[in-house]
Amino acid sequence: MDRIAWWREARFGMFVHFGLYSIPGRGEWWMWWEKTTPEELNQLAAAFKPAKYKPSNWIRLARQAGMKYIVLTTRHHDGFSLFDSKVSDFTTTKTACGRDLVKEYVAACRKHGMPVGLYYSLLDWRFDAYHKGPQKDPAGWSKFIEYMHAQVEELMTNYGKIDLLWYDGGWPWTPADWQSEKLNAMVRRLQPDILINDRSGTPEDFCTKSEQMITPHMRDWECTMPLYDFWWGHIPGDSHYKTPYEVIRNLTLTASHGGNYILSIGPKPDGSVDPRDSRILRQVGAWLAKNGESIYGTSQGVSNVSPAPLVTPFGGITRKPGKLYLHVLYWHPEFPVADIKEKVTAVRFLETGEPVSFSQQGERLWIRNLPAKPVNPHNTVIVCDMEG
Ligand code: GLC
Repeated sequence: MDRIAWWREARFGMFVHFGLYSIPGRGEWWMWWEKTTPEELNQLAAAFKPAKYKPSNWIRLARQAGMKYIVLTTRHHDGFSLFDSKVSDFTTTKTACGRDLVKEYVAACRKHGMPVGLYYSLLDWRFDAYHKGPQKDPAGWSKFIEYMHAQVEELMTNYGKIDLLWYDGGWPWTPADWQSEKLNAMVRRLQPDILINDRSGTPEDFCTKSEQMITPHMRDWECTMPLYDFWWGHIPGDSHYKTPYEVIRNLTLTASHGGNYILSIGPKPDGSVDPRDSRILRQVGAWLAKNGESIYGTSQGVSNVSPAPLVTPFGGITRKPGKLYLHVLYWHPEFPVADIKEKVTAVRFLETGEPVSFSQQGERLWIRNLPAKPVNPHNTVIVCDMEG
């Protein structure tokens, strides 16, 4: 089977941003903006004791939300490793926490049969060489690269089978500077079935350029967004949440263009998930429980060729062999769908099974006489059976 088949089938994943930044709660770029000192970092590490760190709770929530894989930030840009490392003392194992959080996470994923993804930031703001770059500080740079490669090797060696490696933070340096080819050859030797994203600068298995917005690509691609308005880590006072509708819409439009949607939550400093997050994710899951057939394992129904906008006059379209799914985000009493070459034999609401009136005129399929109100306030899916 194609290595990436499970990922294409999955369509919806959970991202977890968890680390020192969860404590100040001003987003995971706090250190950059606020010029956090090494002493302050150490103080945070001394305070980082996530008593409610139970990844199985995240996984249970991911399941309830209909998410099919999960990715955890094992080390973000601040350099704090949630795993044991021979090349760093700035880890959860060697500070107050005293636990290998990655180990616990991977074990929980395995136990629950959840494909396991590890996020790892190439850059580490604590290294001077990162800021100066390979030209200005060649000696420092090669030490930094050695450390980074060694950590990736640890992640790929110490935790059994890893399904996905999610790099980040390659900017502003080149794949040659990061020695990405060598790095990824090592990863693939240690984990032959792994999927790797494109953020070490080489194309690898899927494209992640679609960040905070939906921009379709002509290859396997993933759209990544936080559940919140901008930052990915926990912000206690943040009231700018995506609504269940927005999450469902984003997932639907991404799938309509052949992509996966990975949505991030930022657990609280103790490792637990804010009830506000859970509430929204469960509402998304309720929609997927009834309409998942129109998302999982589908292929795109809307053309990626510009200048067409992302959305059709009624919403999105996904496909499966012999089936066409119309995702009606914008309700109309009737509307046509163009470019339908196959003969449509039956049309119904996916949720209720109730038949929907239709007619075919040339290559246009007309959906007619819809009720005054949508069947589902978030997204009413109409499924069409097609011949051939
Ligand atoms: C960006 C940010 C980072 C976040 C990531 C997720 O690259 O630097 O904070 O983790 O996007 O896509």
